[in-house]
Amino acid sequence: MCGIVGVTGNDNTVKIILNGLQKLEYRGYDSAGIFVNSKNGQDYLVKEKGRIKDLRKEVGPEVHGTAGIGHTRWATHGVVSVDNAHPQVSKDDRFYLVHNGVIENFQDLKSDFLSDVPFTSQTDTEVVVQLIDKFAVEDHLDAHDAFVKALGYLKGSSYGFLLMDREEPETLYVAKNKSPLLIGLADGYNVVCSDSLAMLNETHDFLELMDGEVVTVKPDEVIIENKDGEKVERKPFHVDMNADETDKGTYPFYMLKEIDEQPNVMRKLAQEYLSDTGKPVISDDLLNDMQEADRLYIVGAGTSYHAGLVGKRLFESMTQKPTEVHISSEFAYEQPILSEKPFFIFLSQSGETADSREVLVNVNSGNYKSLTLTNVQNSTLSREATYTLLLHAGPEIAVASTKAYTAQIALEAILAKALGERDNQIVASNFDIRQQLGLVATGMQALVDEKNVIENIAKDYFLNTPNAFYIGRGLDWTVSLESALKLKEISYVQAEGFASGELKHGTIALIEEGTPVIGIITQKRTAGLTRSNLQETMARGAKTITIVASKLAKPGDTIILPDIDEHLTPLLSVVPAQLLAYYTSLNKGLDVDKPRNLAKSVTVE
Ligand code: F6R
Repeated sequence: MCGIVGVTGNDNTVKIILNGLQKLEYRGYDSAGIFVNSKNGQDYLVKEKGRIKDLRKEVGPEVHGTAGIGHTRWATHGVVSVDNAHPQVSKDDRFYLVHNGVIENFQDLKSDFLSDVPFTSQTDTEVVVQLIDKFAVEDHLDAHDAFVKALGYLKGSSYGFLLMDREEPETLYVAKNKSPLLIGLADGYNVVCSDSLAMLNETHDFLELMDGEVVTVKPDEVIIENKDGEKVERKPFHVDMNADETDKGTYPFYMLKEIDEQPNVMRKLAQEYLSDTGKPVISDDLLNDMQEADRLYIVGAGTSYHAGLVGKRLFESMTQKPTEVHISSEFAYEQPILSEKPFFIFLSQSGETADSREVLVNVNSGNYKSLTLTNVQNSTLSREATYTLLLHAGPEIAVASTKAYTAQIALEAILAKALGERDNQIVASNFDIRQQLGLVATGMQALVDEKNVIENIAKDYFLNTPNAFYIGRGLDWTVSLESALKLKEISYVQAEGFASGELKHGTIALIEEGTPVIGIITQKRTAGLTRSNLQETMARGAKTITIVASKLAKPGDTIILPDIDEHLTPLLSVVPAQLLAYYTSLNKGLDVDKPRNLAKSVTVE
């Protein structure tokens, strides 16, 4: 949700900023801009609607500098336009500001302080840069003090800010609250970024920032100050990832690469979390806290919420512990009555989702114990929860989440097995997680190797339909929800995931001649019932497809899944659905990785 980068002390500043923004494009791709400043008094502001490639075309060879800031936007306040793109500029052209987040009280600030200022954009960000300028001019403050004073007025807001003052061409001023920001320490220069992925070509050593901190970044110096203005010493952390892990390689889109990586992610999780004998290796402290809890609360948004729905069934089956799953944006403001000893599990690929973070803030203020399952080391949700387990899925860059979903489920299964075994639960003890993850990896590989079959089904069924239904019961229903979300978000087919027994209570009215209905059938107990529900839709003209576990397959079924333990079937049944969504989007000529109106890592509530 908006990506920001900054560089100071490097002659290649323009190139580093543009390449960094390219890597951050997954965070927003409505418009983009850069401001660069050379020490000898020349500076350049370039902004453009559209993608980073559009911005690149506008950045002529004359644009150069040794320090600068850049931004790729996901619009919140104000339409997509060059004026609303960042950097936003103060009225005297002195201050330049890029921002990721939302300033809740910008209207009040505008009327209280800036009624005489001619605004050129509709953004909340312009209010902040004009406020900084006002304090600098009227109160005779330097950039640092004017910035700090302005921050003091931003009530309840989320921000990652990068500020430049033309009077101090080599200095970047940085502040963060709720939105992610890191300082990268490079050889003889320094960088700033929303995500370390953006700067792995420059450095692997980063300083994390805490909410409320203000940082002054110069080519040879980084000064961090806490909320009270006191200097803070902090050691950098090392990001152990190659820059080429963030490349698409020969793939046309990241999404396909990430779907294909899933078998390896399963193997990696087994390697990271299982001993040679196949026993889960999870810290005793974490398991003790979970064991003491009388109820588990899983919290997540979108695809992560869907992974939580699977997790509920895994935890309840293997540990007999009541487990609730909640959409984070609902939980934050409609908190249910909690049990006496709750334990919270946060699912978040990015570890930065503002809705989930809001819940974690409440959980921490109640002194409850929590665990985050995330793909991003040192992310906000990871730092702020009591415990973290990493998904080890490698960077997920396509906006539509795929490998993080399956990694979350596999890790939930490992955790459920570990917890259940502690409590001598027979289901957990009998569950051979190592063997099963091996079968899952092989099964996933078999499915991704059949891409051409799935592409043909996508062409036949989805290319020209306005709507579609995925149906199933129990675990298969949870996968229906995720499958429908994938289809909606990247191919713009209006899709619904439905509990198959519920169709006849109203929604079946939507079935018409030719409506695609996909039945997911992997659970022995409910297979017959879902087949009957599919028949009911066929009788009303639906074109049906089945995604069926091999042991339940019948002649005429469409996609057959290799057999694995029924607890883990979502790990296989989702793969054809991911590919169906991918090929529908591809054959419609859409930008699979960057669907309209969306961004990855949603850092606004
Ligand atoms: C859909 C998708 C989103 C995310 C959601 C939560 O494909 O990716 O629904 O799952 O925005 O994001 P994280 O998991 O980063 O908290």
